[in-house]
Amino acid sequence: MGVKILGIETSCDETAAAVVEDGVKILSSVVSSQVDVHRKFGGVVPEVASRRHLELINPVIKEALEQAGVGFGDLQAVAVTQGPGLVGALLVGLAAAKALAFALGVPLLAVNHLEGHIYANFLVHRDLSFPLVCLVVSGGHTDLVLVRRHGDYRLLGRTRDDAAGEAFDKVARVLELGYPGGPALERLAREGNEEAVNFPRASVEGLDFSFSGLKTAVIQHLHRCQRAGEEVARADVAASFQKAVVDVLVEKTLEAARRTGCRDIILAGGVAANGRLRAAMQEGARREGRRVLYPPAELCTDNAAMIACAAYYRYLRGEEAPLTLNALPGLPLAPA
Ligand code: KG4
Ligand code: ZN
Repeated sequence: MGVKILGIETSCDETAAAVVEDGVKILSSVVSSQVDVHRKFGGVVPEVASRRHLELINPVIKEALEQAGVGFGDLQAVAVTQGPGLVGALLVGLAAAKALAFALGVPLLAVNHLEGHIYANFLVHRDLSFPLVCLVVSGGHTDLVLVRRHGDYRLLGRTRDDAAGEAFDKVARVLELGYPGGPALERLAREGNEEAVNFPRASVEGLDFSFSGLKTAVIQHLHRCQRAGEEVARADVAASFQKAVVDVLVEKTLEAARRTGCRDIILAGGVAANGRLRAAMQEGARREGRRVLYPPAELCTDNAAMIACAAYYRYLRGEEAPLTLNALPGLPLAPA
């Protein structure tokens, strides 16, 4: 009999629950997206997200158990995202997880949301070798992380302003692609010429990133076109913007791998679903004899299977969070 862990994730706008066995076997992974609720506001409204989580959390947990074909009594632990994220959203998942862990008499395990994204890779790849470099690219974070062994992270670089996903979302908005913007922008970019506009590659020293200047450059380009009475080639702008983001992400990630002597590079977070980023990273790494791995798209974006997977390794180490556990909206992954 394997170790079955229920994972619960409510850090942003997805209410998610999953049952994972031994950190690798996804028995169920239910993700109830609130995208439709937030779309009319053009982004996530924290108060609305909390209320929606509250409505969805019990049915989503029930569904995860049903799909997995297990009862509450079959669970060995309950894992939950403690942060980073929206405090009111996190609290809903925490309250549910604490109540269940207490009632079932099983350990409560606290997981960092970014750690969860990293572990989406361990759900699907069996032969990852430490140390490895992970590029975490989500809506809120752009971090280069050295993973020395399970649970041991060192921050190598991070964005100084906007996260990569945030840049995708903001540029998608000015291109009137709606919300959420990342996937829509990638689709539009497929029809464009990525050499059409030469957007700046932010030159930040070391392994840090900066994307706010790029977003401004896109807006300025659109204004210039408007003033000149030219029609905006939206697909070209999307493709050129995407290329500028991808170039920098690939360059810095490969540099991080060189500096730390890592053969394996893993990608994590919503932007890791981007096909252009995946392909460019693969190509760059291959030239240097390195390997790039990433989760399937549905495990790149927020889900609870990744939380249950990360928790499994904490469970093996005998960790247990207290029932007084609180949400930490700014929880860091690792000391810089
Ligand atoms: O990891 P995630 O689901 O949530 C956070 O923890 O933030 O990441 C969401 C972000 C959003 O900014 C979304 O636009 C972006 O990931 N994203 C993408 C793609 N799919 C999701 N960005 C670029 N290309 C994609 N295919
Ligand atoms: Zn996330």
